[in-house]
Amino acid sequence: MSITYFNEDKTFKLDTVNSTYLIHIVDKGFLLHGYYGRKISDHNTTYLTRIYEFPFYPAVNNRENGSFMDAAPFEYPASDRGDYRGRAIEAESLKGYRTFDMRYVSHRIYEGKPKLEGLPATFAGKDEADTLEIECLEPVLNINVTLLYSVFKNKDVITRSVIVKNNSEEAVYLTRIMSLCLDMDNEDYDLITLNGSWARERHIDRRRIHKGMTSVSSSRGESSHQEHPFLAVLDHNATNDHGSVYGFNFVYSGNFTASVNYTQFDSLRIMMGINPCDFRWKLEPCESFVSPEAVMVYSGNGLNEMTHTFHDLYRNNLIRSPYKDKKRPILINNWEATYFDFDSEKLLSIAREAGKSGIEMLVMDDGWFGTRSSDNMALGDWYVNEDKLKGGLKALVDRINEIPVAGTDKKMKFGIWVEPEMISPDSDLFREHPDYAIQIPDRDPALIRNQLVLDLSRKEVVDCIYSMISKVLKSANIEYVKWDMNRGLTDLGSCLLPGERQGELLHRYMLGVYDMQERLVNDFPDLLLENCSSGGARFDPGMLYYSPQIWCSDDTDAIERLAIQEGTALIYPLSCIGAHVSDCPNHTVFRNTPFKTRGDVALLGTFGYELDITKIPEEDRAMIPKQVEQYHKFHMLIQDGDYYRISSFRENNLYDCTEVVKKDRSEALVTFVQVLAR
Ligand code: DGJ
Repeated sequence: MSITYFNEDKTFKLDTVNSTYLIHIVDKGFLLHGYYGRKISDHNTTYLTRIYEFPFYPAVNNRENGSFMDAAPFEYPASDRGDYRGRAIEAESLKGYRTFDMRYVSHRIYEGKPKLEGLPATFAGKDEADTLEIECLEPVLNINVTLLYSVFKNKDVITRSVIVKNNSEEAVYLTRIMSLCLDMDNEDYDLITLNGSWARERHIDRRRIHKGMTSVSSSRGESSHQEHPFLAVLDHNATNDHGSVYGFNFVYSGNFTASVNYTQFDSLRIMMGINPCDFRWKLEPCESFVSPEAVMVYSGNGLNEMTHTFHDLYRNNLIRSPYKDKKRPILINNWEATYFDFDSEKLLSIAREAGKSGIEMLVMDDGWFGTRSSDNMALGDWYVNEDKLKGGLKALVDRINEIPVAGTDKKMKFGIWVEPEMISPDSDLFREHPDYAIQIPDRDPALIRNQLVLDLSRKEVVDCIYSMISKVLKSANIEYVKWDMNRGLTDLGSCLLPGERQGELLHRYMLGVYDMQERLVNDFPDLLLENCSSGGARFDPGMLYYSPQIWCSDDTDAIERLAIQEGTALIYPLSCIGAHVSDCPNHTVFRNTPFKTRGDVALLGTFGYELDITKIPEEDRAMIPKQVEQYHKFHMLIQDGDYYRISSFRENNLYDCTEVVKKDRSEALVTFVQVLAR
């Protein structure tokens, strides 16, 4: 067992291979955090909680509750009881009171790891993980709070989640529920977050932790281009290979917050959970709320080790798709080749030329359905535009499937793009069901890319869209789907939710998205699903649970990609990172880069092409078979190997260098890209 309860000392000890996590139950049932870090044999660390020092804690001196509440390292701090460092949970009673206090009641330790209903989460067999459930009670509101900790025995990983159950006879409103809280002393730590923008996602940002609150968050209804549900706290002198690093990642694709509060007594309070902004969940008597999962990784040997732990965890215990261990077909996507201007003949010409170079799959991107001739219309009309695809989808796919792939005895595969979460005001679906869009009556909704978001908090909307999409997928031999999502959420109104429940919309929306993806992967088990969101606005562990790869960024420029892929690979395996070779000058930044560089950078991802292969310069086209060969040679190494950052253009302003090493150390691939010359 990786979890031990020491009855005498009322202490829980959670051990991974190289780390230890300690929780103490102290007088009055308070749960205090004892220790997290490098593995230790000791379990009684109550001295680290300093509860017997001045200011005294309530059992000793009831006069000084406030000092204790504002200084003790709480495992899951309550609200409005004198702890001003940030609350983990908050609930509003029908009378409008928001005080929440909770104390230990009981606990359970068992082998394995429970599923979180309706939510993506890491999974583990009985031999891989043990779970501790600590049951607490808020005595006045009669609400039970269960803190869940799953400890991975052979990885330095502990996952956390929280279940809140209303056992009273009155409803309450849950207004804040963090999945993770961690109090620890600051030891001159740095903070790493991943920040960016559209076409500049997940750049690594490292700085000293300053006094007060620092946070990253999203209130866009998606995990976002701008900030990422991740943070790492690490020794100020930690490098890729040395020092202590604590990494935290949230398995959720909607609004999040992740914060560090550097307090008056030089402690840190780290929190991660659903963003309380726009969140208000009504819990009726007997109802429960399950928080999404937060993953904690400890590395005593720098950032690369943290990266390896995340990569191994996600490859083995998060991504479910059978493709996670399979070779991905080399695809060619027509988006940057044609945008909306294509028909069957154009696609066939690209596929034929691609086949000659050994490319294995054609992906038909946006523009094949309804009246879609630009991004102004037709989202929601998931039937084939036969003006573009003469004879229909099956006729096209059958012809694609006849194209030989050079150097193999295989035929070309076919994949398709969809954007199931959206509706265009100019669509048959909107004309028939305007109420399907998220919007507020009597207000003009904010359009982004001239589209609105479907109200996936409603089951009938999920059913309707899913039945249209699955009909398309069954109509032809479609082996890959790119699921896109091209705008953030605004005008948060659902016509079916009563006023007091409108604050549930964003989370219910996410549950609807997850439900639809769950149906898709169950009904089409052999399908290769790639998630996407205006590039990489929803590249997170929540989506990885359903799709083994995610389109990383709309910026396909090889040099811009160095920083984007570096930040993404800090947590996510290379085999998840959608990366393509595109044409030059690059469509986003207009930079020219050698075709070889473009190929080498895309190789550190899922590898594919996104260009009009019938039009690129002959010398570039001549290099494709060599790049294809390179992919066949290295794909397993890249898929399963350990990834090392050696040096980054971000830091040295000259070049970028990474390495992927086979687990048995028998093979390595070093990629060096000279960005600037001096
Ligand atoms: C955004 C995606 O990131 C692109 O790759 C492309 O699929 C477009 N959407 C299509 O509208």
